[in-house]
Amino acid sequence: MSTAFDNAVALEDRYQLATYKKMPIVAERGEGVWLYASDGTKYLDLYGGHAVAGTGHSHPHVVAALREQADKLLFYSNLVYSGARARAAEKLVAVAPDSLTKAFFCNSGTEANENAMRMARLATGRSNVITFSGGFHGRTADAISATFLGKYREIGKPNVPGHIAAEFGDLESVRQLADESVAAIMLEPIQSMAGVKMAGADFYLGLRQLCDERGIVLIYDEVQTGVGRTGEWFFAGSDVGGRVVPDVITLAKALGSGIPVGACLVTEAIASKIKENDLGTTFGGGMMAMAAVSATLEAIEQDGMLANVKAVEAQLRKSLAGMPGLSEITGKGFLLGLRFTSKAAEIHRALLERKIITGTSSDPNVLRLLPPLCLQESEVDLFVKELGDL
Ligand SMILES: Cc1ncc(COP(=O)(O)O)c(C=O)c1O
Repeated sequence: MSTAFDNAVALEDRYQLATYKKMPIVAERGEGVWLYASDGTKYLDLYGGHAVAGTGHSHPHVVAALREQADKLLFYSNLVYSGARARAAEKLVAVAPDSLTKAFFCNSGTEANENAMRMARLATGRSNVITFSGGFHGRTADAISATFLGKYREIGKPNVPGHIAAEFGDLESVRQLADESVAAIMLEPIQSMAGVKMAGADFYLGLRQLCDERGIVLIYDEVQTGVGRTGEWFFAGSDVGGRVVPDVITLAKALGSGIPVGACLVTEAIASKIKENDLGTTFGGGMMAMAAVSATLEAIEQDGMLANVKAVEAQLRKSLAGMPGLSEITGKGFLLGLRFTSKAAEIHRALLERKIITGTSSDPNVLRLLPPLCLQESEVDLFVKELGDL
């Protein structure tokens, strides 16, 4: 192993809290779907650093925009106006479903969800939030209390009161809980960490109807599904989701191509209930993050990445069809769950030895693919060949 590898591993192990099980890679640079390690090894990245590298690693348009912004002004808070913030907000609202007309910027997915729940409580005067078993919404107090997956709520104790869980895909289970105490129903429209679970369109349509009937705010946590990942800008409004548009969409991950940024997109009705100082964050809406948002959305548009996701997803599904040991492919676009008859962790490890990065999930048999939206057919061929050779 190279000295750079040994140094980085030794120093991180010594000085950083060991909160993640790491792959034996010292990441040095990236280009598109390729990640280069300090020893020169090249990895095909089908995980994108937790779904963050939507535009691919170090997309030239994003890098140029960040350089240009860094030369002018790194940061000023929301106490002043900014061209960079104005452009990002305008652009984000322009690609959003028509009824979502205003953006709130923050710094991460969990923060976006905290603010979405707060807005729902402020808008309705109610306090409870329904989420779903298997959903993941983040690690800060309110978001982790909304996360009925594995040990998360246990880690987050004492939990914020008023969180209740329904069964994903089961409308009746939601109906029974959705009384006048409920401010919001929040869901990952495709449950990623649970093993890439998507419901039928009827489920989303039923949730929309229920929320309308009972005055409940519908929140889509699109931290993973947003910003082009499904081959549409958002799951909200998509055909597979019954064209349902929620009252709030939360975003993060791919939104800044790696610069930390989160956002809530909200309807005019919600926006009208939010007053000065109801929400806030020092860093949210900072110029570097805003330059990253605009450049990310532009890069997706300019490179035709939404169409690419659709075309390459179709090729991937076709190439994988009938592969021995693979029983099912779930998800949409570039958020895909590959269900194997054997353990996904072993497949993940074997692929890593072949220099391909994938993700696991909380379902031991499901391997997750969250590649950059610029993944090409030739790269899919490489993945399918290596997978087939295992
Ligand atoms: C669906 C979903 N929501 C929220 C979060 C939390 O985002 P962050 O880690 O940026 O706080 C994640 C992170 O994995 C996520 O996948």
